[in-house]
Amino acid sequence: MTTTPAPSRHAGTLITGANGEFGHGLIRTLYDAGRRDLVALDVHEIDASLRPMCRDAIVGDITDAALLSRLHANYEIHSIFHLAALLSTRSEFNPEAAHEVNVVGTVNLLKLAADQAASHGHPVRFMFPSSIAVYGMGGLEAKARAGAVREDQCLEPTTMYGCNKLACEHLGRYYARHYRQLAKDRPRGAGRVDFRCIRFPGVISAFTLPSGGTSDYAPEMIHAAAKSEAYACFVREDARIPFITMPDAIEALLKLHDADAKALTRTVYNITAFAPSAGEIAAIVRRHFGKAEITFQPDVERQGIVDSWPADVDDSAARQDWGFHPRHDLNAAFEEYLIPNIRAKYAT
Ligand code: SER
Repeated sequence: MTTTPAPSRHAGTLITGANGEFGHGLIRTLYDAGRRDLVALDVHEIDASLRPMCRDAIVGDITDAALLSRLHANYEIHSIFHLAALLSTRSEFNPEAAHEVNVVGTVNLLKLAADQAASHGHPVRFMFPSSIAVYGMGGLEAKARAGAVREDQCLEPTTMYGCNKLACEHLGRYYARHYRQLAKDRPRGAGRVDFRCIRFPGVISAFTLPSGGTSDYAPEMIHAAAKSEAYACFVREDARIPFITMPDAIEALLKLHDADAKALTRTVYNITAFAPSAGEIAAIVRRHFGKAEITFQPDVERQGIVDSWPADVDDSAARQDWGFHPRHDLNAAFEEYLIPNIRAKYAT
């Protein structure tokens, strides 16, 4: 008698938004750490330098449910890094498109995670980058009074992006704990979505620039100076929000991914590394690039978004539960990471 082997699926770690700046850093880090099962998904073709680091690179849209069904058929997925999103500035120009990508796309991926967990019987780690945009401080005086906000404070975002991220934080918790709670075959035990979320501050990379965000003034100012280009900053000198370097942001995401589930007291964690004003960033940039031409020409609307975000966040839960500890404070961020790497990048 002949037997037909059971069809098997390829093991895959799925990264959405793979061609974005977070995806670039994450793929390199995971590849360098020995991961060879990376499946990259992005609406744009993946950068040629990243392609050899990925088992597969798929061009497609997370709002395409049929595409995600095909992924379910082809891969056995244990971890999803869901990085795809329209950022805060871009989302204000088309809030409904932002909802489609940021919320509907996330629900599609949460369903994929739930289907995967049910089919292979193991939890699927679902890593979700949320943002300080989920906060709404209600005016500059309240922002100054609030200081470093905890995860459960001031959750009245004024941007579509912030509303989308906050909605997805709740949807992630729902899929992890209450999904299909009235169904007879509701998921139980190990075959669940293990949703883990970090609220990121502004992220600054020495190698790439973000597109469509509102915290972009910091990386734009630094990169412009290194390229000897003049930069007109779109927020006031006293505008203040928290930031982190890209390597610390990636390390945090991986550390939370690897943390023992028993150590986690919440699904959503704040993190931060330093919280300079735009003027303080400009002063450091001028110290390193003597010829930097930085002016401040606030854009009232984008300034309003930054004013609605907290000046700082309380990340003690992340430090206690899974040992978050950024390598770069403000000084180290510039001295050890940004300045040497940015100089080398634009030297040629
Ligand atoms: N950096 C993002 C933005 O500016 C916030 O998470 O949109």
